[in-house]
Amino acid sequence: MEMTEFINQYGVERKQTNSLKWDALDVRYGDPDLIAMWVADMEFKVPEAVQEALHQRVEHGVFGYSYTPDSYYEAFFAWQKKRHNIDLEKEWVRFSPGVVSALYWFVNIFTKENDSVMIQSPVYYPFHNAVLDNNRRLVRSELVNTNGHYTMDLADFEKKVVEEKVKLFILCSPHNPAGRVWSEEELIKVLDICQKHDVLVVSDEIHQDIILGDNEFVSSLNVGNGKYQDNLIVCTAPSKTFNLACLLNSHIIIPNEDIRNAFDLGSKKINQCETSIMGQIATEAAYRHGEEWLDSLLEVIEHNFNYLKKELNEHAPKAVVTQLEGTYLAWVDLRNYVEPKEIKGFIQDKCRLAIDFGEWFSDECQGFVRLNMATNPKFVEKGVQNMIAELQKIDG
Ligand SMILES: Cc1ncc(COP(=O)(O)O)c(C=O)c1O
Repeated sequence: MEMTEFINQYGVERKQTNSLKWDALDVRYGDPDLIAMWVADMEFKVPEAVQEALHQRVEHGVFGYSYTPDSYYEAFFAWQKKRHNIDLEKEWVRFSPGVVSALYWFVNIFTKENDSVMIQSPVYYPFHNAVLDNNRRLVRSELVNTNGHYTMDLADFEKKVVEEKVKLFILCSPHNPAGRVWSEEELIKVLDICQKHDVLVVSDEIHQDIILGDNEFVSSLNVGNGKYQDNLIVCTAPSKTFNLACLLNSHIIIPNEDIRNAFDLGSKKINQCETSIMGQIATEAAYRHGEEWLDSLLEVIEHNFNYLKKELNEHAPKAVVTQLEGTYLAWVDLRNYVEPKEIKGFIQDKCRLAIDFGEWFSDECQGFVRLNMATNPKFVEKGVQNMIAELQKIDG
């Protein structure tokens, strides 16, 4: 479907729909009139087939305890095979209401209090919270930022793994907010270190379907022809891909039987929750019928990001725009214009934007902003032009 047609058919206003992004601006930012470009969901309705499947269930009118049918697994596995060449087995799959909940479970099940857990920062802030809220030691290996391009510091990573006796590593692949789709070569190196030092890897692949340009996503399940599967838990979900976050259905994939048994035992103690029937129905329909919708969405994201990059490069060239390889979250360093501690006033009061602030992802990143590109281009245009007008004032 052509981009404009997609926007016309699926674009939607979200104010006054209990939307965290739009209706909690006052609570979260102290200002209800900002343009909402923060939290990672979208101003697009789900694929038509998903809405129809949900309608049918609403018509039926029963929301009792549910069972996951074989057809669900067929649709999920076919999607993973077609889009990512991943071969899955039913026994490997567990469910959670969200990937963040799952991260909390893993920290509880696979580590003890005061054990060390590694992350690569800047990274999606619930990674920190899952570790700190459970009284584990947070070990950070900072990614290396070279003019906005991020790479892993493997020497630092390995040194800290050894020195801090790290038990668990939470990998973000593709990476939010660094926009990287890690190459297989990079993944081999980091997974090798973890295997060598017996560090269990959780690979959060929630952004696996949002891959731009020629970038190629390689799941940790497939890295080195599957050679790390025995030391691995992978999380995937339809929630970012199809805008289904609050239908509370995501996947935990554990190929190794011993890790799976440990997970099952541990999760019995802390997790007696049902799966969401609406999430299950929406997911199956999305994986069966959502491919064309997703391909159009990717065009919109790419269009929005290219607009932001081109405009900032031309009119505010000292803003450092990280190339968006994957995810729909653009990452921009404004420190050449704005004193890091002034960034909130600049972005909110001057540019009139609600964005994710860099310091949420790492203490080192005050002065960076993360802007959501999965939205109607009219918001990106307005947001970017507001920023340029204010940045040009600073530049004199
Ligand atoms: C890397 C990453 N993991 C997890 C989530 C959220 O997952 P969930 O809503 O399933 O808890 C996000 C949301 O932006 C994310 O970027």
